[in-house]
This record gives sequence, C-alpha cells and structure tokens, in this order.
Amino acid sequence: MLRRLHKDQPDSFAFTPANLAWAEAQITKYPEGRQASAIIPLLWRAQEQYGWLTRPAIEYVSDMLGMAYIRGLEVASFYFMFQLQPVGSVAHIQICGTTSCMICGAEDLMEVCKEKIAAKPHELSADGKFSWEEVECLGSCSNAPMAQIGKDYYEDLTQVRMGEIIDQLAAGYVPLPGPQNGRYAAEPLSGLTSLTEYDSGKTQHNASVQLASDIGDTVKRIDGTEVPLTAPWQGNNDPAAKAATKPATAKKAAPKTAKAETAPKTAAATAVAEGPGKKPKVMKTN
Ligand code: FES
Repeated sequence: MLRRLHKDQPDSFAFTPANLAWAEAQITKYPEGRQASAIIPLLWRAQEQYGWLTRPAIEYVSDMLGMAYIRGLEVASFYFMFQLQPVGSVAHIQICGTTSCMICGAEDLMEVCKEKIAAKPHELSADGKFSWEEVECLGSCSNAPMAQIGKDYYEDLTQVRMGEIIDQLAAGYVPLPGPQNGRYAAEPLSGLTSLTEYDSGKTQHNASVQLASDIGDTVKRIDGTEVPLTAPWQGNNDPAAKAATKPATAKKAAPKTAKAETAPKTAAATAVAEGPGKKPKVMKTN
C-alpha cells in the first residue's frame, strides 16, 4: 500500500515539556553517533501526542536525532504503526487481514467497519470518532480473527462482537481486550490439555489483558500518566529530572525549525487533537 504524507498538515510540531524530557532520555540509550536508533520511539511518541504523524513532527524528530528529513520519512512511511493521516478521535481499528485471520473471518470484520465507520480504510467516520484499516499479521494468529484497537488486541472476534465493540466505544465504554470468546489466552477453548502444571489459576485475565484492565483505558493515547515513564539506565527513574541535569547527546536536542505548536489547519485534525480528552476513563468488562 502506498503511504504518503497527508495533504493537510499543521504548521508546526513540538513535544510537550514532559514528552521532550522523555525523548531526550530515550536518546541517551544509544552511544554517541547512534542517536538515529531512537527514531521509532520518538516518532511513536509524537504520534501519541498529536494523534497521527504529521510532516512537522517527522521533521522535528529528525532534527532531534540529527537525521535528514528523508530518513525520518522513510521510517514513518515504512511501518504501518505510524498513521500518516488523521485517525478517529476515539479509536483507530486495525483489522488483521493476513492468512489465519482471513481464513477465520477478517473480511467479515472489515464489513462491519465499512458499515459502522466508513466505506474505505483510513476514512474518518461521519462524526470523526472512528477510522479503520486492514493491516498485516499482528502476531496473534492463534486467536484469529483479531484487531488491534489503541494499545491492545481484541481477539477471537466475530462479526457480531466486532460490531458490539464499536458500539460500546461509541457509547463511551472501553470493552475489555483479549480473547472475546472466553479463552484465557491462546489455549484450547475447552482449557489446557497439556502443560497443565503451568496453569496458574490465579489471575482473572492473562497478563496482557490484566495490564490493560489495570490501566483502565485501552484506547487512550499514551501520555505518561498511565504508567510512569522511567529511564533506569541513567540510574534515575525520573527522566524529567535527569534531562534537566544531563542534556541529550543528539546533535539537535531542540530543533531549530520547531515552533510552538499551533492549531492544525483541518477540522478533522482539530477533532483528533481534541478527541482523546473526551474519551471514557473506565474500562468495563463485557
Ligand atoms: S494472521 Fe492475523 S494475527 Fe497473524
């Protein structure tokens, strides 16, 4: 699939002070001259901050890492984890369409998305709350068909359940992620048939689902409030405090071209920028 920068771009991008401190801490993971290795986490952070990955954000991060803009664009346009266009303010739904999921009903899931969200992938729903796309294998093949929504996987989906999940998200609820058919993880639906001694029997959900449940909102964009953002390799668990005492080793810790972030040009982008604050905070079980 051809991945291009969106035609409507905001004027500028700048990390928030907290995200800048986090980003500068990330850069110190890498030896001098290898700061470009931080490109993916920094682009991801920029996307989480703004909602999608804009050209100014790619240039800002490239400047931080002393990279040519084209190198930053190459990374951003290669990985489909990076959204190069506005996405739904509540959720962007990524349906796996690779072999296992396709055999088990991925096309049915995409039909639901076409009905409830938009006829074409990457189109915003009429209310701007949702968008969807087909993606390649997400590594949860034994729980096919599945979709990634926000930070988490919704697995063992059916057409009906996919529709219910979208409806629940639209109504302000965040459905519990993980297997949607009662499975704990990827074991047989009837339960473990081997390695039964490893059945902990202690937790209600598997570790991934439990973490999502504890955080409480699987579709909220990462802003550092859900899990402490630490930089233990610096011997200091507070990246903001550390960044204040030790500047990042990148060539341009503060990009010359970065300006104070201004309002995006498009209404869609504005909706994205404002959307997450309105999302529900409480994850409810099915
Ligand atoms: S084929 Fe869908 S997760 Fe692998």
